[in-house]
Amino acid sequence: MFEGHSDVSQLEKTLMSRLPAKEIRKWIQKYSTPYRELMSYYKCAMMEVCTKFNVLDEELSLRYDRNPIESIKSRLKTPESILDKLQRRGLYPSVENIEENVFDVAGVRVICSYVSDIYMLADALEKQDDIVIVRKKDYIKEPKENGYRSLHLITEIPIFLHDRKRMMKVEVQLRTISMDWWASLEHKICYKKDFIVTDEMRQELRECAEIGARLDARMETLQERANLLTDGK
Ligand code: GTP
Ligand code: MG
Repeated sequence: MFEGHSDVSQLEKTLMSRLPAKEIRKWIQKYSTPYRELMSYYKCAMMEVCTKFNVLDEELSLRYDRNPIESIKSRLKTPESILDKLQRRGLYPSVENIEENVFDVAGVRVICSYVSDIYMLADALEKQDDIVIVRKKDYIKEPKENGYRSLHLITEIPIFLHDRKRMMKVEVQLRTISMDWWASLEHKICYKKDFIVTDEMRQELRECAEIGARLDARMETLQERANLLTDGK
């Protein structure tokens, strides 16, 4: 999902197959340039958020002598997926509707070493005075029924254009390495497949997620023990 890339011709193609020809022509004429512009603003906002996390990683790595972030991935939602979302909500695909209703056009995924790093980074981000946390979903404290864990933030961040400032929404997902491998594999196993996942499979997936969570806790305890040994020197 995170390697998607926006391409307006793909958007136009998707529109072709779904809207009456007259409507499609109208939409393309009216929105092609604004759509490209909007996507470019989302891209800028995504870069800003990535930079914020890179700065935090750099600073915290000096303080703790290790990097709290393992990797950062970012993606723009594909036009097809944006349209699907709007259609599911019965909304016309205008740039206004995209901005007001689709909060995950720009997505940043931060893979952290430990669960405590997730909360430390989220807290540090929340305290920055140019960023607004619009929504927070803590699927670590309350995992989803299938076992999914991550901390989700919908953020709003300013981008500075040549003549004005514009606030843009960016979805941030923070997870550990084990939460990430579980989510990637669960997505491969279950997403858009034309079968119904059986109760037994669901149970198995949930158990795998729980094993991942226990491993996270054990590894974090090992890190804490290592810290105590280092501090004692
Ligand atoms: P959507 O973005 O439409 O899914 O709706 P939402 O606003 O309810 O979003 P939520 O914050 O619950 O989750 C959004 C994103 O988190 C998804 O696009 C996925 O990237 C990820 N996610 C949420 N639930 C799952 C899950 O059960 N499995 C996996 N693999 N990823 C999930
Ligand atoms: Mg989403």
